[in-house]
Amino acid sequence: MTYLVTDACIRCKYTDCVEVCPVDCFYEGENMLVIHPEECIDCGVCVPECPVEAIVPDTEDDKDGKWLKINADYAKVWPNITLRKDPPADADEMAKVKDKLSTLFSSKAG
Ligand code: SF4
Ligand code: F3S
Repeated sequence: MTYLVTDACIRCKYTDCVEVCPVDCFYEGENMLVIHPEECIDCGVCVPECPVEAIVPDTEDDKDGKWLKINADYAKVWPNITLRKDPPADADEMAKVKDKLSTLFSSKAG
């Protein structure tokens, strides 16, 4: 199994998660992070660090498995991130928005 970054991260990108990962398996896009499923050791320590509960085990992925696909695909092409950075200025506002994938996801690298 692996843990996955999901919808709530989009345009929030608080990056508290990256500081605690023992294997540095977070990758940064323009608007969200993803976890490399083959590098994640399933420790779960990043889960409580995310203020918007964006990180879930793959057992809680959508039925179609879309978050596993997004995490796996973009972890291959986005750069690794290991140091926390300031979130976007409107992160707290964006945290209130639901279902951001179809409208606010960016495939660009961070
Ligand atoms: Fe890193 Fe552990 Fe989170 Fe996987 S579950 S991304 S290994 S902190
Ligand atoms: Fe995203 Fe939460 Fe990490 S918002 S960057 S998964 S702390």
